Amino acid sequence: MNGISDIMIQAAELIKYSAHTVVFTGSGISVESGIPPFRRENGLWTKYDPGFLDINYFHKHPEKSWPLIKEIFCDYYGKVKPNAAHFSLAAMEKTGLLHSVITQNIDNLHQEAGSRLVYELHGSCRYLVCEKCLKKYPVSAIDLAKLPPVCSVCGAVLKPDFVFFGEPLQEPANTDSLAEVRNARVFLLIGTSGEVMPSSLIPIEAKKNKSQIIEINTAPSNYSTTITDIFIQGKATEIMEELLFILTGIVL
Ligand code: APR
Repeated sequence: MNGISDIMIQAAELIKYSAHTVVFTGSGISVESGIPPFRRENGLWTKYDPGFLDINYFHKHPEKSWPLIKEIFCDYYGKVKPNAAHFSLAAMEKTGLLHSVITQNIDNLHQEAGSRLVYELHGSCRYLVCEKCLKKYPVSAIDLAKLPPVCSVCGAVLKPDFVFFGEPLQEPANTDSLAEVRNARVFLLIGTSGEVMPSSLIPIEAKKNKSQIIEINTAPSNYSTTITDIFIQGKATEIMEELLFILTGIVL
């Protein structure tokens, strides 16, 4: 195993012998697909005031929130493609090494890469929902030339089917994730700062439940010196490709 670090071998061994492995992902896993993270350098919230995604602001001024929602979460997010980290996780699920993905991301890239069991705590940018009659639409089925878009059934303004500031986590994803946490023996954290409540509590629950925590991040996070057992510093794509190769021999 020349060239493979001890820490990668330790992580691979934990996953190999784990009865139930779950991954928890944040925006960092999608950075190499071209999606900016939320915080710090190049973060979305350094460029835009997140107030346009406050639920009360949206209800009062949908016509002001919608142009930015369209630009960022429909036009831009609509073009991005999954990367090697997403594909590695999908391959791990197929080979029985990974049970499920819990994600804070709304970009749908885990599903596009082939992951089947994905819990989207913050919902998805690929759907719009009518808050009045609850009809759900794929974004691709809605004409966004005229904003804000409205429900063809009841005429109410449509909202992206992701969690705005001031809203609770999506159900049943939240309850299902907590069940996963109870079963997990190994919990992988990829590309999350752990700064946003309440989803940031999920890895802490996993640790309380005696999961081994393996963290992959380009920089230390809130978890690195608190709950993480094995910290692997590096880009999600490179680390995950290597981990997949050590575990399965698969080269993406
Ligand atoms: N590979 C691995 N990790 C990376 C990479 C990369 N290529 N690039 C960045 N990271 C790490 C950063 O070091 C940071 O720890 O990803 C993390 C991104 O952190 P945040 O921007 O805070 O994103 P996240 O943790 O997903 O935020 C949670 O905040 O605003 C909300 O709802 C939004 O879901 C989001 C939530």
